[in-house]
Amino acid sequence: MPKINSVLSYVDRGPWGKSGYRGNCSGYVIKDLIENYFPNSSPKQFIEVFSGGGTGEDVAKSLGINNSVHLDLINGWNALTDEIPLQADFIFSHPPYWNIINYQAVREDINKDDLSSFDSYENFIKSLNLINKKIYDALLPGGIYAMLIGDVRKKGQYYSLQKDLDWYGNLIAHLIKIQNNTKMENFQYTNMNFIPILHEHILVFKKPIP
Ligand SMILES: C[S@@+](CC[C@H](N)C(=O)[O-])C[C@H]1O[C@@H](n2cnc3c(N)ncnc32)[C@H](O)[C@@H]1O
Repeated sequence: MPKINSVLSYVDRGPWGKSGYRGNCSGYVIKDLIENYFPNSSPKQFIEVFSGGGTGEDVAKSLGINNSVHLDLINGWNALTDEIPLQADFIFSHPPYWNIINYQAVREDINKDDLSSFDSYENFIKSLNLINKKIYDALLPGGIYAMLIGDVRKKGQYYSLQKDLDWYGNLIAHLIKIQNNTKMENFQYTNMNFIPILHEHILVFKKPIP
């Protein structure tokens, strides 16, 4: 029996990471992906890119993974200028959904390389492509890369990040994660044709073994 299917929904985010970190994700996503793809043993090397408030690190510890690496601007690693320091058989990333969260408004120390501060969608996609290529290069043959990403609307326009990004490796699963507890649930709509976005995408890639 598989651990998960292609629709994920978690009513709470679990005990992992800082619940107050803007844009954090549920630790269940990372836990379930690891337990699904590594059912009998942990990944030999787990790397998390865009680790933010420490969700992945706490999940790793709770699974007994003690050598995991967690990379983010907030701990001094810049995805645009720094290399991924080692090779891994499992990489998880949760990039900003372009500038949907304005960290500038909540963090004075905002870095110009923070992808969520980019005004241009084209530059954002170009930069995330560059980072995803770095991630792919850091995957060991047979390794798995899972990226959690959302589509966004801005000024009435729909931007499908998962569609516009380049994909590296073989797509082995495309999961939909329901977004629970969003502010949108209580939003009063004036345009009744408008369909709110209440899901995110998890794209899972495998690097072929030559
Ligand atoms: C959606 S949040 C990730 C949240 C994380 N999954 C959690 O549960 O807390 C995106 C993260 O991308 C990081 N980020 C943005 N631009 C970056 C860059 N150039 N290099 C490294 N990290 C970056 C931000 O600091 C932020 O923590």
